[in-house]
Amino acid sequence: MTGHAETSVTTSDKPAVWRGRVWLMVVAVIFAAMFFLYYYEDIRIGPPQPVSFSHRVHAGVKEINCRFCHSNVERSAHAGLPEVEKCFFCHKYIIPKYPEMQKEERFFNTNTPVPWVRIFWVPDFVFFNHIPHIKWAGFDCSRCHGDVKTMDRLEYTKFQMNFCITCHRENRAQVDCWLACHR
Ligand code: HEC
Ligand code: HEC
Ligand code: HEC
Ligand code: HEC
Repeated sequence: MTGHAETSVTTSDKPAVWRGRVWLMVVAVIFAAMFFLYYYEDIRIGPPQPVSFSHRVHAGVKEINCRFCHSNVERSAHAGLPEVEKCFFCHKYIIPKYPEMQKEERFFNTNTPVPWVRIFWVPDFVFFNHIPHIKWAGFDCSRCHGDVKTMDRLEYTKFQMNFCITCHRENRAQVDCWLACHR
């Protein structure tokens, strides 16, 4: 009788121990996956902005032209960001009571430029100008900025010199450092 009881204890305990180990592994894998998702999401979607402006909604879903908001991109070295007034062309009528819009309205009423977090930049010693790239060579914005239309929050890209030079070589553009980019 006792012998029988012993075997039944060991046979029913062993799977329990294994089940415990498998569960532990499953939990560990889930934690690892969550960690990586959060970690990479931070990098993938770029920094939070003072107002949760979305390029996916405006340039993607609503198909507003890039040049409507970045109107200097063909006229001066800097594309520039839209002034607060420009948002209210539309938002005086569209979702004016939405909390994010009321934040924007506070900037408008106090005449404060929105402190947007800068995403794309090159160091001071590099000369860059949008005009030859867009007006003359006719590149699409996405060649350098990625598919902005699909992004809620723009992501950081550090432009490496290689990025400029490879394309200049491919397109027979100026590759003399001092004449072109380091003036
Ligand atoms: C309705 C206005 C609006 C439209 C349309 C729009 N943008 Fe923007 N853009 C903004 C605002 C506001 C910011 C600053 C907040 C941010 O970075 O998301 C910005 C930021 C950017 C930046 C980053 C600037 C920096 O900080 O380095 C790039 C690049 C850009 N836009 C490209 C585009 C392109 C390409 C399109 C068209 C596909 C486009 N934008 C359409 C309003 C607009
Ligand atoms: C040409 C018109 C137009 C301009 C200019 C414009 N918007 Fe919008 N915006 C829209 C439309 C249309 C929607 C979608 C509203 C809806 O979903 O009902 C929207 C939605 C939004 C939303 C909510 C989006 C969401 O779902 O998270 C925010 C926030 C916003 N806009 C901020 C801005 C800011 C900041 C500016 C100025 C840099 C701006 N908008 C300029 C038309 C515009
Ligand atoms: C050949 C690459 C290239 C193309 C094409 C390009 N950009 Fe840029 N863009 C840059 C670089 C490089 C910077 C950073 C410039 C700096 O730091 O002075 C920049 C910066 C910006 C900024 C930040 C604000 C500013 O004025 O510097 C905006 C907004 C922007 N680009 C919008 C656009 C739009 C809209 C288009 C398409 C019409 C476009 N860009 C096409 C390379 C490009
Ligand atoms: C997608 C390809 C491409 C990329 C990326 C690119 N360029 Fe260019 N760039 C060109 C072409 C093509 C021209 C010549 C345009 C023309 O003259 O028709 C040019 C012209 C220029 C000029 C004007 C040169 C002159 O002859 O006066 C400067 C300055 C310049 N690029 C700087 C840069 C810098 C800095 C970067 C990197 C941040 C960069 N470019 C990235 C394609 C590119």
